[in-house]
Amino acid sequence: MPTQPPSPIPDFIYGTAWKEDRTGALTELALRMGFRGIDTANQRRHYFEEGVGHGLATAYNAGIVTRNDLFLQTKFTYQPGQDHRLPYDPAASLSVQVAQSMASSLDHLATDHVDSYVLHGPSSNHDWTDADAEVWEAMRKERDAGRTRLLGVSNVTLRQLQQMAAARAELPAFVQNRCYARLGWDCAVRSFCREHKIVYQGFSLLTANQEVLQHPLIASLAASANATAPQIVFSFARGIGILPLTGTSNAEHMKQDLASRDLKLPPEAVQAVESVAG
Ligand SMILES: NC(=O)c1ccc[n+]([C@@H]2O[C@H](COP(=O)([O-])OP(=O)(O)OC[C@H]3O[C@@H](n4cnc5c(N)ncnc54)[C@H](OP(=O)(O)O)[C@@H]3O)[C@@H](O)[C@H]2O)c1
Repeated sequence: MPTQPPSPIPDFIYGTAWKEDRTGALTELALRMGFRGIDTANQRRHYFEEGVGHGLATAYNAGIVTRNDLFLQTKFTYQPGQDHRLPYDPAASLSVQVAQSMASSLDHLATDHVDSYVLHGPSSNHDWTDADAEVWEAMRKERDAGRTRLLGVSNVTLRQLQQMAAARAELPAFVQNRCYARLGWDCAVRSFCREHKIVYQGFSLLTANQEVLQHPLIASLAASANATAPQIVFSFARGIGILPLTGTSNAEHMKQDLASRDLKLPPEAVQAVESVAG
């Protein structure tokens, strides 16, 4: 029997952090509005992954999407990033914790595989450690067993990516980082990603860059494109190769964020925005 091709990497990802009781309804709303990429984490402290699963089930039942239309991404989070609501046995080895966390994610999301499995952050701010190597190997095993299609690393530095490469570790398909304009929109990490064909996912594009959103250049670009300042920022992000995330809880903003995909800034405008916070 022919198997269905996997869903493509989406051009916008809807983030489900910090939505607590509204997670299910907002996930369903995001799918209804047209998002096909959903980001979550098995980290109850900031995400309600089970609520994401409820939103997916409602959307499936309403005929809005099928599992095959979706790109589902979740994360493994080390214990220091969690609260007491752990998705694994903290006394188990890291490899076992990864397997337990993945099993729990698949249960929450009622699926037999996710599309992307992301290490939420390396265990140290400085180096790619032996613990990270063990977790990464366990994540590769999850991938090889078909429980995720692709792997990613989040909150990662250029140094850590270079250490992965030097150790001849398999490089991730995705990097997911917070993107500060004042740090050149994470230009060093983005450049490593470009060189190694890693898709760079950027979050906090709006919340970390209020000074850019309020800059007169953005206002003038927005006025001439009949767009909003956030739409200019998302369009700019795409222009420099970032796959953006948004965590909006507002239906109108969902619509506007998705509509930014049709807004193509000319290269000189992209360069001008890039230099705003430089
Ligand atoms: N890997 C990690 O460690 C990590 C960390 C943080 C986040 N993330 C992921 O990234 C996702 C997004 O997080 P985020 O930090 O980028 O966003 P966020 O903080 O969830 O929220 C985006 C902010 O921008 C506003 N906004 C969005 N679209 C807008 C529009 N068109 N016009 C005006 N305001 C707009 C939202 O307000 P309204 O709600 O009013 O629209 C909200 O205040 C998270 O949900 C999570 O999935 C990952």
